[in-house]
Amino acid sequence: MEQAEWLRIFLIHERTIELAAQVPSHTALPAEYSIRPACEGDLLSVFELLRPFVEQRKVLRRTRAEISAMLLTGFVAELAGEVIGFSAVEIYSKKLSEIQCLTVNPEHQGKGIGGALVRHCVELARQRGVMEVMAISASEKFLHDLGFDYALPDQKRALFFQLRSRDEVYRELELLGE
Ligand SMILES: CC(C)(COP(=O)(O)OP(=O)(O)OC[C@H]1O[C@@H](n2cnc3c(N)ncnc32)[C@H](O)[C@@H]1OP(=O)(O)O)[C@@H](O)C(=O)NCCC(=O)NCCS
Repeated sequence: MEQAEWLRIFLIHERTIELAAQVPSHTALPAEYSIRPACEGDLLSVFELLRPFVEQRKVLRRTRAEISAMLLTGFVAELAGEVIGFSAVEIYSKKLSEIQCLTVNPEHQGKGIGGALVRHCVELARQRGVMEVMAISASEKFLHDLGFDYALPDQKRALFFQLRSRDEVYRELELLGE
C-alpha cells in the first residue's frame, strides 16, 4: 500500500462542531420516557442498542470494554424499564470532551430523546469543568439546535490524520480480549 494512502488526511463527511457557551432551553420529553445516568448493568442493553447502528455504519464500532468505560459518563433513555437510547460524554481533558455513541431506537426517534441525552452529557461536562464538548453528527441542524457551533467559524471542517485503519486496531483490541 502506498504511503500516501496510509498518511492521507481524512476529511470526514460529518462535520465536527463544538459547544457554544449556552445550551438553549428545550421542551420536555413525553412523560413516558425518562433519562438516568447509565450503570454497569446497562452494558448488554447498550451493546444491543448500538449493534444495528454499527452494522449500518451510523456509529463507530466499539469494544465491550469501551462501552463499559462510557457507561461511567453516559446516560440511558428508558421507556417502561427498557433502554431505548444512549449517549456518553468522553472526557479527554479539562479542555476537551466528546459526545459518543448517541443513539435512539428508530421507533422512538423524533420525540426529543436524542436532544435530551446530549443535554445531559453537556451538563455533566459542565459540572466537571470541561472547556468544550465536541460532537460528530450527520445532522448539522440537530447539533446547532442544541447550541453547538464551529469553534473556528471560518474553518468549518475538522480534519483527521488517520494513522492506522480502524479495522486493524479493533482486531488487535479483540485479540487482547477488550
Ligand atoms: C441522531 C439521533 C440520536 C437523534 O435522536 P432523536 O431522538 O430523533 O432526536 P430528537 O428527537 O431530539 O431530534 C430530532 C431532530 O434532529 C434531526 N436529526 C437528527 N438526526 C438527523 C440526521 N441524521 N439527519 C437529519 N436530521 C436529523 C431530526 O430531523 C429532528 O429535527 P426536527 O426536530 O427539526 O424535526 C437519532 O436520529 C439516531 O439514533 N440516529 C442514528 C445514530 C446516529 O446518527 N448518531 C449520531 C452519530 S454519533
